[in-house]
Amino acid sequence: MNGFFQLERKAKMEFNRLSEWRRTIYCGELRLKHANKQVTLFGWVHRHRDMGNLVFVDLRDREGAVQVVVSSDDKKLLEDAKKIRMEYVVGIKGVVKNRGEKLRNPQLPTGDIEVEVKELKILSTSKVPPFVIIDPPQATEELRFKYRYMDLRRANMQRNIKLRHQAALSIRNFLSKNGFYEVETPFLTKSTPEGARDYLVPSRVYKGRFFALPQSPQLFKQILMISGFDRYFQIVRCFRDEDLRADRQPEFTQIDIEMSFVERDDIYELVEAMMASLFELVDVKIELPFPRFAYEESMEKYGTDKPDLRFGMDIKDLTEIGSKIDSEVFKRALFSGGVLKGLLVEKGGSLSRSQLDKLNQKARDQGGKGVIWIKKKDGFKSSLKLDESDFRLIWEFFNGKEEDIVLLAADEKHTALKVLGEIRKDSLLGQYADSKSFKFAWVTDFPLFEWGDDEERPVSMHHPFTSPLDDDLALFEKEPLRARAKAYDLVLNGVEIGGGSIRIHNLDLQRKVFKILGLSQKEVEEKFGFFLEALCYGVPPHGGIAFGFDRIVMLLAGEESIRDVIPFPKTTSSLCLLTGSPAAVNKGQLRDLGLERVKSKE
Ligand code: AMO
Repeated sequence: MNGFFQLERKAKMEFNRLSEWRRTIYCGELRLKHANKQVTLFGWVHRHRDMGNLVFVDLRDREGAVQVVVSSDDKKLLEDAKKIRMEYVVGIKGVVKNRGEKLRNPQLPTGDIEVEVKELKILSTSKVPPFVIIDPPQATEELRFKYRYMDLRRANMQRNIKLRHQAALSIRNFLSKNGFYEVETPFLTKSTPEGARDYLVPSRVYKGRFFALPQSPQLFKQILMISGFDRYFQIVRCFRDEDLRADRQPEFTQIDIEMSFVERDDIYELVEAMMASLFELVDVKIELPFPRFAYEESMEKYGTDKPDLRFGMDIKDLTEIGSKIDSEVFKRALFSGGVLKGLLVEKGGSLSRSQLDKLNQKARDQGGKGVIWIKKKDGFKSSLKLDESDFRLIWEFFNGKEEDIVLLAADEKHTALKVLGEIRKDSLLGQYADSKSFKFAWVTDFPLFEWGDDEERPVSMHHPFTSPLDDDLALFEKEPLRARAKAYDLVLNGVEIGGGSIRIHNLDLQRKVFKILGLSQKEVEEKFGFFLEALCYGVPPHGGIAFGFDRIVMLLAGEESIRDVIPFPKTTSSLCLLTGSPAAVNKGQLRDLGLERVKSKE
């Protein structure tokens, strides 16, 4: 008999059977109103204290923990209770008791009562846990992901996963009520261009050929509009092989939406109502309608296309003022066509030299020359030498107060905006943000294309199925980089939570876009021939949007990373530590797929 089966057999002998025992209430649901009631509870041992003739156990289930007490009246029961260890699974039958004012524990929602145990069953034992189940977690992320089933037992994770379920339900109900059908689309499919690398799946039947896992269901949802479904949605997994960050995973979930016979305003209206109903889940009433910024305006004002509107600190243009000031630093930037941009941080005068040094370093990391600061308390102080009258000019421009600080960047325009955009959202200035509020913004009119340095040609800023603005239709073939798109992103607290567009529903226009993207006729046919064919058979004008569901739940839950709202996430290096994947496969499997492993040269 091998080790595993021996262990299993031993375990079976030790464990009690569930038999006719059934839960009457969750541990975490017990309150004073249940006093004197008989209950049957199941849960994990969160904590246990052996006081000799009394054993106290905090029994935990998905709804919370409750204290249960075994006393010495029954010797056998006390003996069994003394065997209990952390994370054992136990069942108890007992009576709920009012703890009384002196003994109540105000820290616990169940702290008014405890349960006097009459019968006890150890249903399962546990090895010594690799870490304590506690919030905030003490263990490294690596250890937590390896033992994710233990990590998921934390109250915060139980709450986050429940919230995720409720959010999905709210969205499904909302969209269904508004006439949308949830339609599934394939995972084994053809490459969908969303700007990342594809995960490929080799075909066993057709050797040398591959499926691609969808980066999004973009083409299928458009085809569903051509099929006449009119309003589609799907809460769907997408796969992107790209560099990971706190808000990116290789597989993530989208709320994917598409509608026929609509323009942008119809989509904004639907989404705003959907968000209002979703945020009711966390008792937040959000302000409607959401403010809208054209891409250019957002870049000018906030130095980013993901503006965080929880705080002001708009970026202002001081180029004209700068040109009147006698300073080498300003001259150097302005003479070469650059700009002087700046922002005022209210009450920011308290930022220390070392904090300002950090901001300066951040500016340099963004490719800028640095950031200039000016304070006013007890006379002007600054990282730049200027005449008193020049300081006053700048200060008056901002209408600054004694306790404020002004931060300036003199640089080439794109760099100056990027620097101040990054500084504006730095956590050092975060203390001036109202972190509890939810501020949405639409960013619209994105450029249709941007220059791809690697590709050395225009690349789509969203995806190639995005319609140009009607006003830019005439321009877009001649000067593609100047054309704007009927594209929009939804931003919440500086996080891009969704993006979409009105689509091209005209075959000729779609072909022209592919041409600008440098695709040959042959490539177009190979990659998108099926889609172009579909565009020949009666296409309704249509548009849609997709949301990062994980990001939305992260913000709803007040978490900093989407890894905290995904039950089984990958690490930042794309590994699943729980299962140890990706993993090697044996030669036979490779042979079946017509694949061979080539040794890398490194
Ligand atoms: P887009 O590529 O902007 O649009 O994706 C939509 C939203 O999905 C989220 N998202 C991600 N979340 C976690 N991990 C990732 N790796 C990741 N990548 C994207 C973001 C993003 O705003 N087909 C289009 C939508 C459309 O045009 O309708 C699309 O996929 O929150």
